[in-house]
Amino acid sequence: MSSVHFTGVTKRFGAVEALSDLNLHVEEGEFVSLLGPSGSGKSTTLNLLAGLLDADDGEIAIGERVVNDVSPDKRDIAMVFQSYALYPHMTVFENIAFPLRARRRRVPRAEVEERVTAVAAILGVEALLHRYPKELSGGQQQRVALGRAMVRDPKVFLLDEPLSNLDARLRIRMRRDLKALHDRIGSTIIYVTHDQAEAMSMSTRIAVFDKGRLQQFATPFEIYNRPANVFVANFVGEREILLLDGEARIVDDTLQIATANDTLSVGRVPPGAARLTGRRVTFGLRAESLRIAEAGGIEARVTEVEPAGPDIIVFARTLGGLDLACRVDAATRIERGAHIHLAIIPERLLAFDEKGVAIDLH
Ligand SMILES: Nc1ncnc2c1ncn2[C@@H]1O[C@H](COP(=O)(O)OP(=O)(O)OP(=O)(O)O)[C@@H](O)[C@H]1O
Ligand SMILES: [Mg+2]
Repeated sequence: MSSVHFTGVTKRFGAVEALSDLNLHVEEGEFVSLLGPSGSGKSTTLNLLAGLLDADDGEIAIGERVVNDVSPDKRDIAMVFQSYALYPHMTVFENIAFPLRARRRRVPRAEVEERVTAVAAILGVEALLHRYPKELSGGQQQRVALGRAMVRDPKVFLLDEPLSNLDARLRIRMRRDLKALHDRIGSTIIYVTHDQAEAMSMSTRIAVFDKGRLQQFATPFEIYNRPANVFVANFVGEREILLLDGEARIVDDTLQIATANDTLSVGRVPPGAARLTGRRVTFGLRAESLRIAEAGGIEARVTEVEPAGPDIIVFARTLGGLDLACRVDAATRIERGAHIHLAIIPERLLAFDEKGVAIDLH
């Protein structure tokens, strides 16, 4: 296993700058997700590392070794793509063994046997070694594709949306499998996805991309709780974030957000609130940043109730006409038209300056 380093890397396709001045340093043994919307540069980053594309600018290194001019087969990385086609006429054993046999430097038969068996045991497909791909479920095929990548014991694994062909349930189970696999083999993994929940659940750190630019590189906790800017705040989380332009006032030891419609009170003053005074601020509220209070707080009327499995999303309009959303437990009894009190959870309040850059309140 190895660390991975992008230093000032830029890639253009004609007039399109697919990746701009990327600086990203992945430590040995990390599980890093590249997360972002379609066209944000995730696959370009992976393909540059794999050597399938050449950088126009900057330096790419695997461990200590600069690989810009190293051919793909000499970079000692393994890649699993979204379409992980297995060879249909080969058994599971032969599919996993393929990279060992295909190499010019042939691996002795006994060693092939040993390595395939070891990889199959890690992935839980030992019992399937004599089956053909068409006799496997989607998740089993996926594991065999991973096995084929693992058998060479590469320095780095590159996975480009490897779960996107699987159904929703299986994807969620495979997340745990992949994470457990990473814990066991300890390899450096770089994983491309546009699914924020997937990235959150598996990664040691997440690199969020937008329009070819790295927006933030941090732990899942930080990405969710301390997003660097409006883009990241909006991209992670299950739903769009509510953004409110307003002015912050500190009155009698409480923080108040004065918007065009309404003045919202945030109970306790967050430690960094002094940074807000005297400037235009965009506040960010997720549905889970609000709770229903017994009394006081923000008065509102329920306009819609949306069941969301273990939760309910309550949509409510304040007296001043501001539309808020609040996530509550599914067992809560609440109906459209009800009069409720909402409270902002101070720890969850986000704030951004006029350029959309986060203002640290916490
Ligand atoms: N071979 C190419 N020729 C021209 N433009 C390209 C090429 N490959 C990628 N691009 C452009 O570069 C940008 C980044 O593409 P990239 O494939 O890295 O996006 P992505 O984040 O992987 O998106 P997706 O989630 O859709 O796979 C896009 O604007 C894309 O259209
Ligand atoms: Mg892609």
